[in-house]
Amino acid sequence: MLIKRIHGWEVPEREATSESAYLNRRGLVKAMGLGAIAASVPGLARAEDDPSAKLYPAKANATYGAPTPMTAEKLATTYNNYYEFDTDKSIYKAAQKLPIRPWMIKVAGLVEKPFEIDIDSLLAKMPLEERVYRHRCVETWSMIVPWSGFAMKSLVEFCKPTSGAKYVVMQTLNNPKVMPGEKDSTYPWPYTEGLAMDEAMNDLCFVATGLYGKPIPKQNGAPLRLVAPWKYGFKNVKSIVSIEFTEKRPVSFWEKLNSDEYGFWANVNPQVPHPRWSQATEKPLGTSDRVPTQLYNGYGEFVAGLYEGRKSEKLFM
Ligand code: MTE
Repeated sequence: MLIKRIHGWEVPEREATSESAYLNRRGLVKAMGLGAIAASVPGLARAEDDPSAKLYPAKANATYGAPTPMTAEKLATTYNNYYEFDTDKSIYKAAQKLPIRPWMIKVAGLVEKPFEIDIDSLLAKMPLEERVYRHRCVETWSMIVPWSGFAMKSLVEFCKPTSGAKYVVMQTLNNPKVMPGEKDSTYPWPYTEGLAMDEAMNDLCFVATGLYGKPIPKQNGAPLRLVAPWKYGFKNVKSIVSIEFTEKRPVSFWEKLNSDEYGFWANVNPQVPHPRWSQATEKPLGTSDRVPTQLYNGYGEFVAGLYEGRKSEKLFM
């Protein structure tokens, strides 16, 4: 995003999945077990080998809309931003080295009692569901994908923050042995992102542990990643190992690198250009179109109220 300009949206294969095709496939996945589709992308781990495989597909929740057309699974799982592996979009093979079991998540800071929990115990406690969300990258590509997981609100409540907590700060695994990008000291590792508490408690805010009715692939942020669909994609921190509640607003990864270009709030707004390019339109993965970008990525009815009292902040960059 900052240092090396990549024309990553020039993805060769451009096919979108229609909703009916996805739903048919979803039924098929359930009926046949989970292996057939993952096996169709060479270099990907087999979904049925994931210990959480039996939890998916989760029950669909369309409360927040059913956007279409769905992005093809193959595209969403082979065209990724995961700088810990490389600044290139084709990290999906390299990401298979990410060890996702055992996977401990540390909960610290302003909570009743700090604790650690392993991903499978957490999954057993959370109400899993599937939501189809739009995703808008600050680089102007976009996708529509079915995430499975749980409301961020459920996770926050489980962590029991104290009344002094104003922000929730999340970090990605820091392991340069398997994530070679983390050897590059020009970046402020580990990848860190944060939300204000009311954002984290908003019903739209989601934690993804699955994608396309299966455990979330490593390249998309296994075993758990944030999904805040009204914000630019860089807020959606992947492969979370640490959740800390703070009084002070954190400085996030991209903000630390260049606060003039990547702010803390990072809400999608077509009227506010990035200093180096327009945000008025976006390019859905799998098409050669440019379509208008929507304020809050189309989720204003759920989240605009969060920002009523924050008009003096740089809400859109
Ligand atoms: N999380 C980590 N740890 N590292 C990253 O490089 N990239 C972000 C976000 N989360 C990133 C990350 C950006 S810029 C985007 S657009 C999304 O992940 C991409 O998610 P996807 O690869 O699942 O589409």
